[in-house]
Amino acid sequence: KAKMVQMTEKQLDMDALREAGEILKRGGLVAFPTETVYGLGGNALDPEASRKIYAAKGRPSDNPLIVHIAGMEDLPAIVSEIPEKAEKLAEAFWPGPLTMIFSKSDKVPYETTGGLDSVAVRLPSNRIAQALIRQAGGYVAAPSANTSGRPSPTLAVHVQEDLEDRIDMIIDGGQVDIGLESTIVDFTEDPPVVLRPGYLNRSMLEEVLGEVRIDPGILSADSRVRPKAPGMRYKHYAPKADLAVVEGPEQDVPGKIRELVHEKIDAGYKTGVICTSETRGEYPEGIIYSIGCRAEEESIARHLYEVLRRFDEDGVEYIYSESFYTPRMGQAIMNRLLKAAGHEIVEIQ
Ligand code: TXA
Ligand code: MG
Repeated sequence: KAKMVQMTEKQLDMDALREAGEILKRGGLVAFPTETVYGLGGNALDPEASRKIYAAKGRPSDNPLIVHIAGMEDLPAIVSEIPEKAEKLAEAFWPGPLTMIFSKSDKVPYETTGGLDSVAVRLPSNRIAQALIRQAGGYVAAPSANTSGRPSPTLAVHVQEDLEDRIDMIIDGGQVDIGLESTIVDFTEDPPVVLRPGYLNRSMLEEVLGEVRIDPGILSADSRVRPKAPGMRYKHYAPKADLAVVEGPEQDVPGKIRELVHEKIDAGYKTGVICTSETRGEYPEGIIYSIGCRAEEESIARHLYEVLRRFDEDGVEYIYSESFYTPRMGQAIMNRLLKAAGHEIVEIQ
């Protein structure tokens, strides 16, 4: 069973971090907080550790891992080239919720990159993550610390639920800040391509880089348009319930959801609603979870995965969600929500 330790970014427990570093150096697995979601760490330069990560998550081994570093000075050893634009983006947003794809160097085993000649690299801003990476020798491969097919963990208890019996240690650093996985930008192409939307949106990237493209595979509901990031291709998380997203003029959405919920409850189904604090009062029946407030869109991103996990526990059979096309993170939020819904949309005419 995984050893649980607790700390905060302000008060690092250096003894526990040294112990965690030793576990990683010996080829073991440690889950740790980052500013985006919890990661499941293993030594990125050890093929055996990468195999263990895939096994613990039940993840297909052709789905590459992100290598986490703690300083820009550790980048050159694992990539064959650093394009000038990537260097500029690193200056602007590292440490932070940004992953960049480069051509890999020989130092990185194919077990870590899922057989690809490119490598994904991220320098997280979370201080627990940074300290752990340093203690581990500088290179920590870490996918999100969930069982493959479940929502990414935003709290240590989520990691415990999924992986407790399969890994050596869990570092509990409290609730993560952002709650959605990092923005991935591929620099093996020019102009660079966004493979996964996140907290950093297109216009923030374009301010630094000029033109960037968005991988068509992440915009389309058509499964024939294949996303370039292998992980974005799998039917990701799907809640046990049938989840549908209701879209249309904002003021009409609660009424439509009320009607849908009423029909399902009448037919004897346990039915849930995902809403925000602004609309919470509009739903008289069903299991209602407010995921945040529209006035503060960060709160919506932070609680999305947690709420989806809660509905699974409740044994809900149908879920109707409002849509959240908020100004800055809307693309990332709706990318995850629509994937969870299998792109099932109720369009208000
Ligand atoms: O925020 C995050 O990025 C979190 C935290 C723990 O850092 N990590 C994370 O890892 O989300 P994971 O493994 O759940 O997602 C990594 C994504 C997958 O979709 C994978 O296919 C893609 O990155 N990826 C990794 N290496 C790649 C490569 N060389 N080329 C294309 N896509 C790659
Ligand atoms: Mg993941």
